[in-house]
Amino acid sequence: MKTVLITGCSSGYGLETARHFHARGWNVVATMRTPRTELLPPAERLRVLALDVTRPESIARAIEAAGPIDVLVNNAGLGLFGAFEATPMATVRDIFETNTFGTMAMTQAVLPQFRERRAGLVVNVTSSATLAPMPLVAAYTASKTAVEGFTASLAHELAAFNVRVKLVEPGYAPTTRFTENGTERMQGLLPEAYAGYAQTIFATLGQQSAFTRESDVAEAVWLAANDASVRLHYAAGADALALVRQLEAA
Ligand SMILES: NC(=O)c1ccc[n+]([C@@H]2O[C@H](COP(=O)([O-])OP(=O)(O)OC[C@H]3O[C@@H](n4cnc5c(N)ncnc54)[C@H](OP(=O)(O)O)[C@@H]3O)[C@@H](O)[C@H]2O)c1
Repeated sequence: MKTVLITGCSSGYGLETARHFHARGWNVVATMRTPRTELLPPAERLRVLALDVTRPESIARAIEAAGPIDVLVNNAGLGLFGAFEATPMATVRDIFETNTFGTMAMTQAVLPQFRERRAGLVVNVTSSATLAPMPLVAAYTASKTAVEGFTASLAHELAAFNVRVKLVEPGYAPTTRFTENGTERMQGLLPEAYAGYAQTIFATLGQQSAFTRESDVAEAVWLAANDASVRLHYAAGADALALVRQLEAA
């Protein structure tokens, strides 16, 4: 029986991915900054562990407690919407600390066991924002685009060890806690000079009819985890898939 370790399982895509893998018979290590066991049904094949991807000692503890794993899903992430000019560099660094360096640190923590076993897969959850640039998410897009380049390069050096890395690129889900989790961080990031422009962007976003559901991401991660091919990219959600079709047609 295979084991998956997923980061950021307290809500949204991560929580649904944990449920999805568990329902399909895998051992699941669902990790959260603050463990809330009530979010998932009590089950033998499901463990909830504490893990903050920005803290080396937390990573070491979780990897030790998890035991051997077959698939790592780097899903934990922070959102950021606002004018780049108004975004403090400390906030930019916080975003990178979780989205980019957290993903790298987790990957580094599992690679020794994957390499020794000549087996293993890392799935990095980025964003459809990396496929086509969107306004007012420059720092966030940078943090996720870095993961795309990191993953594409890593795929080459790990292939000789039969260790694979893949990217899941979700679109926008209004139903996760993504926006709510970022509200405080985004205060003051749309100064007066950008207000008119931001209004036009909000109006465009308000007309969007295709979205991503949590289940779309869980299914894409599942597909990636069970796909032995060298395919790197898995867009997830109706909006992300429409974007891919648009780019392919261009
Ligand atoms: N929702 C969207 O529109 C969207 C679109 C494209 C890509 N994504 C990406 O999809 C992933 C999941 O997002 P979501 O929409 O499901 O958002 P979410 O509901 O806010 O979930 C994000 C998860 O990441 C966790 N997290 C944040 N910082 C962490 C840290 N330092 N260590 C460990 N866990 C941490 C959060 O835990 P806490 O409860 O502890 O904060 C939460 O469980 C993210 O990587 C996000 O960038 C989201």
